Amino acid sequence: MAENKEAGPHATGERLAKLAELRAQARLGGGQRRIDRQHAKGRLTARERLERLLDADSFEEFDMFKTHRCTDFEMQDEVFPGDGVVTGYGTIDGRLVYVFSQDFTVLGGSLSETVAEKICKIMDMAMTNGAPVIGLNDSGGARIQEGIESLAGYTEIFQRNVDASGVIPQISCIMGPCAGGAVYSPALTDFVLMVEDSSYMFLTGPKVVKAVTHEEVDTATLGGAKIHTTRSGVAHLSYATEDDALNAVRDLLSFLPQNNLQTSDLVESNDPPERMSDYLDQLIPANPNEAYNIKDVIQETVDDAIFFEIQPGFAPNLVVGFGRYGGRSVGIVANNPAHIAGTLDNDSSIKGARFVRFCDAFNIPLVVFEDVPGFLPGTVQEYGGIIRNGAKLLYAFAEATVPKITIITRKAYGGAYCVMNSKHLGGDINYAWPTAEIAVMGASGAAEILYAGELRELDDPEEAKKQLREREKEYAENFTNPYVAARRGYVDDIIRPCNTRFRIIKALSMLENKQVRKPLKKHGNLPL
Ligand code: HXC
Repeated sequence: MAENKEAGPHATGERLAKLAELRAQARLGGGQRRIDRQHAKGRLTARERLERLLDADSFEEFDMFKTHRCTDFEMQDEVFPGDGVVTGYGTIDGRLVYVFSQDFTVLGGSLSETVAEKICKIMDMAMTNGAPVIGLNDSGGARIQEGIESLAGYTEIFQRNVDASGVIPQISCIMGPCAGGAVYSPALTDFVLMVEDSSYMFLTGPKVVKAVTHEEVDTATLGGAKIHTTRSGVAHLSYATEDDALNAVRDLLSFLPQNNLQTSDLVESNDPPERMSDYLDQLIPANPNEAYNIKDVIQETVDDAIFFEIQPGFAPNLVVGFGRYGGRSVGIVANNPAHIAGTLDNDSSIKGARFVRFCDAFNIPLVVFEDVPGFLPGTVQEYGGIIRNGAKLLYAFAEATVPKITIITRKAYGGAYCVMNSKHLGGDINYAWPTAEIAVMGASGAAEILYAGELRELDDPEEAKKQLREREKEYAENFTNPYVAARRGYVDDIIRPCNTRFRIIKALSMLENKQVRKPLKKHGNLPL
């Protein structure tokens, strides 16, 4: 961390000594005993985390001497300089970021009026100066002793989270047990990262749950990293160690611009734009019902096979994440036939919609790989609101004005064809592989609906089956191919799979200065 440089030529030795003493005291947070307790749990302190997150010696701290104003019961005897959070700015790979790191050793990192003021100060500066905010959260929520002041403080932070949404990237790392407001603020940010077996998110902890609902549940089951990255979808990523999580923040940031008026940095690579992949020519199985992994397509086409996946454990039937083509950062959205045949369901629709909206807000072009047999049918999906949720993904693609490219690798059926960044939703470049099947539904379903009744009239059931198969074949030849859509201009070209990378890079370059004017409005009404 940067040492103090501000002591001027008039500062006396005594005053310098006092300053050093106060700084040393502030650096100890809640005291050595509590620091040892934090370490014993396998966790780093607030300052150690910042040291690992930021470029060496880049951290400049604010409000180190700010103290809480609460005079309730025992607290007046214990005054912690800096209160329960370390705040300031620094750099990551040379780029400015604003940071706050909650200090669990000070009253469990709980949020007082002054903690909130410190966080709000750096959020305001981040907005004024157009740089990302990264919050390292380790907090028991609203400081119980402060009551309304802490609630007011949280709400001030929430308002800033919302105002900053879509203006500067906001990233939250959950580093310890986080409750109440300490999880609501992260929920309003763009990306939430957790540490396995060490960080937890819940509105109220197990003790309160038991008291109110009589439900017995342990911390991990209530709000551990696994639950939030696979079931609730509250967190996007989880890592085995704090170091891994902090390194991931640095990687993630490299794909993002500083703010919504800039674009992401070009990252040079030695991966030739015209590199062909023969593997892709062999990838699609002969049997249309056989699965393959869409991540192979992503990895084969992006620069240096580097793909930063977001929410890998949640709704894996839709893959989303960041990659680069010719050095340009893009958001990739891809149906994955390796999971529930790549169908769209409630969770994947919500996951995709949020990711598309993030990319659109931050000028990150979208590349879509499409192989989708439709929306997942059934009561579970219908009762879960697939109509409303599927509409979210449709809405997100339709309103996005960044460059939008779609590659249909195989199935593009029914409503899912419309939703997945089709030409009709403003797709700029829509390519199909020769293996694409673009139709209302698959051949067997279509033949069953169109001809089964008529063929059942035949006396010989074997003959009826044979004829049904022939009709299926006819339907497949006539309709489930890319040429019908290509004849209408709904796909711009049918491309060789091996050449996909080059075609995407060319398209992105062509779309570099894309401008779209939409009617002025306050905001739309996304079907939430
Ligand atoms: C003041 C708190 C505190 C809080 C913890 N501490 N939470 N002090 N206000 N909210 C203090 C403890 O007294 C203790 O002090 C130290 O922090 C460590 O806490 P422990 O309980 O010993 O730690 P641990 O066993 O790891 O458990 C952590 C915890 C638990 C799960 C977070 O402390 C907990 O359940 N706290 C309360 C959570 C909660 O319900 N918060 C209010 C949410 S409502 P010492 O002196 O021993 O170090 C809310 C309103 C906003 O946030 C809602 C907006 C929508």
